[in-house]
Amino acid sequence: MKVLVTGGAGYIGSHAVAVLLQKGYETVIIDNMMTGHLAAVHKDSVFYEGNICDAEFIESVFEKEKVDAVIHFAASSLVGESVKDPLKYFRNNVYGMQVLLETMYKENVEKIVFSSTAATYGDTDIVPLTENLPANPESPYGDSKLIMEKMMKWCDVAYGIKFVSLRYFNVGGAHPNGNIGEDHRPETHLIPIILQTALGQREQISIFGDDYPTEDGTCIRDYVHVLDLIDAHLLALAYLNKGGQSDIFNLGSSQGFSVKEMIDAARHVTGKEIPAQIGTRRAGDPAVLIASSSKAKEVLGWNPTRTDMKEIIGDAWRWHQHRPNGYDE
Ligand code: UFG
Repeated sequence: MKVLVTGGAGYIGSHAVAVLLQKGYETVIIDNMMTGHLAAVHKDSVFYEGNICDAEFIESVFEKEKVDAVIHFAASSLVGESVKDPLKYFRNNVYGMQVLLETMYKENVEKIVFSSTAATYGDTDIVPLTENLPANPESPYGDSKLIMEKMMKWCDVAYGIKFVSLRYFNVGGAHPNGNIGEDHRPETHLIPIILQTALGQREQISIFGDDYPTEDGTCIRDYVHVLDLIDAHLLALAYLNKGGQSDIFNLGSSQGFSVKEMIDAARHVTGKEIPAQIGTRRAGDPAVLIASSSKAKEVLGWNPTRTDMKEIIGDAWRWHQHRPNGYDE
């Protein structure tokens, strides 16, 4: 089976390609290299550099490669940036999906696995979050992903394009081989920032608020290992191949860790001091986000196995030690 992986040079996409190839799939990567890295492009994959919004380019890839299914990661994905520049999110994410679906329809490709987000739920007190809760995104980023889900829904109704949308919670960790991992510029995510502090690249980490209504006052998130996350994408492909109906699933490990707990776990894993100071709240951060992943377990047969925080942080630490400057040599 040949799978088109959009955004295959990015953090999550590169892990998807590594696992797909290992399991015997053929892969075709499309990436515009805005946030992707050439060194993250798997040598055994076909690779095209270009933009998801460029219809001529996308069509030429489909015509040449005759793919059987698509896993769609290519998107802009920063909540804060999306508030400042919503049109960037509507262009790259929403219009990118428009071009992709038009091309899939034209070329008779009828299966898509989509990278969605917990940001579709918005700020809520409900714990854990289930897929049937009303979506109420609080950022253009979350809204763009929700609109993309709706576009796929209506393309299923009209053209029979089947989709699985996977709503990620906080993705962390890296491939245990240490060769691919998280490298965002600028970095905004908690685990890499903690580990850059452990490496001495940052003097300290700022904890964004300790006055939340949680036990230690810091925000609680549900962290899922990137390889567990990718397992769910392969199960989703298998589900669609078996004739499964279009659906939406949360992906988290259903356990919450506070920012302080994450820093402590990283101190334990790395043996480093990791200086931390309390800063102000970051706008838009909900106090607690924890997934119910029961539906993915029941319907897709997903069974995340790397749920120990020491494994998630340990694998990320191996990557950061191996490539302290990320993909720069
Ligand atoms: N945090 C800090 N200090 C930092 C960085 C982060 O205290 O230097 C805190 C944040 O305030 C938050 C937690 O660590 O409470 C996790 O922050 P991340 O930025 O790593 O992740 P988010 O929970 O903000 O974002 C994730 C995904 C987004 C997605 C969002 C859904 O990365 O793509 O969940 O709400 F949109």
